Amino acid sequence: MADIIEIKGVCLTLKKNEILKDVTVSFEEGKIHGLIGRNGSGKTMLMKCICGFIHTTDGSITVAGNEIGKDCDFPENIGIIIETPGFIPHYSGIRNLKLLAGLNKKIGTDKVKDAMQMVGLDPTLKRSVKHYSLGMRQRLGLAQAIMEDPELLILDEPFNGLDKEGVADMRKYLLKLKDMGKTILIASHSAEDIDILCDTVCEMDKGRLTVIRESKNEIQ
Ligand SMILES: Nc1ncnc2c1ncn2[C@@H]1O[C@H](COP(=O)(O)OP(=O)(O)OP(=O)(O)O)[C@@H](O)[C@H]1O
Ligand SMILES: [Mg+2]
Repeated sequence: MADIIEIKGVCLTLKKNEILKDVTVSFEEGKIHGLIGRNGSGKTMLMKCICGFIHTTDGSITVAGNEIGKDCDFPENIGIIIETPGFIPHYSGIRNLKLLAGLNKKIGTDKVKDAMQMVGLDPTLKRSVKHYSLGMRQRLGLAQAIMEDPELLILDEPFNGLDKEGVADMRKYLLKLKDMGKTILIASHSAEDIDILCDTVCEMDKGRLTVIRESKNEIQ
């Protein structure tokens, strides 16, 4: 399998702070890759660089063959959950997603509804998002990330705020997405989730990345 993300010698310095230090790693397509590390170790910043939200100081990031900041500003065909997704609080879940889907004009209402159903949300629910629980908002965030059927998902702490059942559901959705051939990069503080879900695991420590579990190559 080819590498969908290639990160080479990435450094990021913000206000004289070295946030990312010479990060080099590749993520193979069709797998779930885990990113662990202490608070402030650089997981979210690395994800933001991959998504093109922050420009690196040095090095290169290539997603699906396109170098970010050179061939394109943002990767195409990507679904993202980084920090709390910004929904319009007084709109319903479906109205929020339809509004966002309308920006790209890639999908219609049917696909929006399918995504909501896949994450266990009722598309007909009239309740406004401000009255959603944290777990429901997380599910809506995942529905938004997957609704356009992207090949790559970047999920920063997708288990935050989920109860036991929510975590089990989220694991099930992520494994289903992997079965569909998607690649997922996930940052989490839950050792159990990472252990159960991920084919490879990298650890960030003060801006440096170490691969701690390599992908097991299946024997044909
Ligand atoms: N906008 C910013 N400007 C400057 N420095 C920042 C900014 N955002 C984060 N940082 C710094 O970058 C470093 C890495 O932060 P990051 O958010 O990537 O950590 P993290 O590994 O995701 O932590 P957590 O597990 O708490 O989510 C921290 O030292 C943080 O203070
Ligand atoms: Mg973070």
